[in-house]
Amino acid sequence: MANKVATGIPGLDELVDDGFPDGRVVLVIGGPGTGKTILCSQFLYKGIYDNQENGIFVSLDESKEHFYSEMKQFGWDFEKAENEGKFAFIEATRMSQAAMLKEKLFREESRSLRGKKLSIDRLIEDLQAKIASYKAKRVVVDTLAMLTYRFPDPVERRTAVVELIQSLADMNVTCLVTTELKHLGLEREALDEEFMVHGVIMLQTLFSESTTTRAIQVEKMREAKVNPSLVPYSINKNGIEVFPNMPLFGD
Ligand SMILES: Nc1ncnc2c1ncn2[C@@H]1O[C@H](COP(=O)(O)OP(=O)(O)OP(=O)(O)O)[C@@H](O)[C@H]1O
Ligand SMILES: [Mg+2]
Repeated sequence: MANKVATGIPGLDELVDDGFPDGRVVLVIGGPGTGKTILCSQFLYKGIYDNQENGIFVSLDESKEHFYSEMKQFGWDFEKAENEGKFAFIEATRMSQAAMLKEKLFREESRSLRGKKLSIDRLIEDLQAKIASYKAKRVVVDTLAMLTYRFPDPVERRTAVVELIQSLADMNVTCLVTTELKHLGLEREALDEEFMVHGVIMLQTLFSESTTTRAIQVEKMREAKVNPSLVPYSINKNGIEVFPNMPLFGD
């Protein structure tokens, strides 16, 4: 059985049976604004300063400057961590179509699948090199949803996702990968990536009468006795906190 890695999120270790499985890939699924980026950043930041585990953040949708200033509001100084050699930010936003459109690269690369595949391969190589030079133990990839724009063809997208997730699983780091969900509810179709990863965590916003509640659920975690309940979480100036023993809509 895999060793456990502290999640850095108060209350979450309890849901996932003492932490994330060491060296595995966990998928964080959630709609816009549910806190995917904050959760992943907290996992990296606490890893660096509470567990002495260096981290790498691969962003497919945000610039480094934007990320650094956003995370400062929680007291997480990633710039300092970078200067201390404990953290690296890989800005892979060029893989998104909006950014690609602005560049010549788009015209050149979009012509061939080979070109697109090469950019995934390049990203994986870059990440491997950074993991080695930073001796990183934790990696985040935010967000796979961006690959939908890069690979409009579902088969191509699936190939890219498989390649990325398999490579991450071989890197000997604990990895969080985010993605989005278009439809919620019991009838929703599982995403391809849910079958490829070791664990799946779902973040959602629930509406009831006059209140909205943020709710988190561990959908799967191989080799672990998870608490599968849907429980509340909050986002505040300290980041994310999970309340494993609190009822969803209060009493
Ligand atoms: N200081 C804060 N206190 C309370 N809530 C906050 C604070 N800062 C951000 N939030 C909330 O966090 C959410 C944004 O979190 P985050 O960017 O991690 O979400 P996301 O799931 O990554 O969204 P996206 O799909 O846009 O990438 C917003 O809903 C915002 O209301
Ligand atoms: Mg985000």
